[in-house]
Amino acid sequence: MDYLSKIDLTKTPKHVAIIMDGNGRWAQKQGHLRLYGHNFGVESIRETLKAAKELKIQYLTLYAFSTENWNRPKEEVAGLMDLLVKSLANEIKELSDTGVRLLTIGDIEGLPQECQDELQESIELTKNNTEINLVLALNYSARWEIIDAVKKIATNVKSNDLSIDKISTELFDSYLSTKDIPDPELLIRTSGEHRISNFLLWQIAYTEFHFTEVLWPDFKRDDLYKAVLDFQSRERRFGMVSEQLTK
Ligand code: FPP
Repeated sequence: MDYLSKIDLTKTPKHVAIIMDGNGRWAQKQGHLRLYGHNFGVESIRETLKAAKELKIQYLTLYAFSTENWNRPKEEVAGLMDLLVKSLANEIKELSDTGVRLLTIGDIEGLPQECQDELQESIELTKNNTEINLVLALNYSARWEIIDAVKKIATNVKSNDLSIDKISTELFDSYLSTKDIPDPELLIRTSGEHRISNFLLWQIAYTEFHFTEVLWPDFKRDDLYKAVLDFQSRERRFGMVSEQLTK
């Protein structure tokens, strides 16, 4: 089916966030090690990014490594870090040439030095691009991010650089690692799991969710189109009633 032609390109979500899940199961179903699935997951990232650009999505945020993922077997963690470094090294020139601006959210200082260096170089190279923002959530968890913001706010209050009555939703936003990034309008999770897994807890207050059974290495352009069509079928009321929206 031609899903793309059904999408209203004037009403696509500005920001789509994805919990890329199911790489391990995809690999194991075929008798391979989990890392095999992560490797194929990179191809799904490529495809999704291309489709997102077509749809004029401005921010694509991918949950690539959570603070909890450090608890996985050592070889898998090392393999994921290696995959990140190699994928960036291989792809960044093309990403940059096609207008992608790379951003990260998460505790980047907690990543191996080699990853930090590769990321920094890629961010610098792509910083003036405007076609789409690719936001990698790395060593990220929403609870870490919220606690980190609270600590910074408390420090500023204690030093008299911030007064308590200035604390607002907007101010809190500005202390998060997603500062300057609009909240996601659509959150997709693959692999049939219906959980948020500590992802963007503050930012998803009014986000629409789309869950799909598709495992991440099988997620391709049509799957993003389907998610966007699902999004466009929803009525987003932001706490109001339907009649108020048409006024
Ligand atoms: C979840 O599948 C996936 C991850 C924890 C890592 C996602 C990483 C990639 C797609 C590739 C590397 C990223 C970049 C940015 C180059 P899972 O392992 O939890 O799968 P399972 O639930 O089937 O075990």
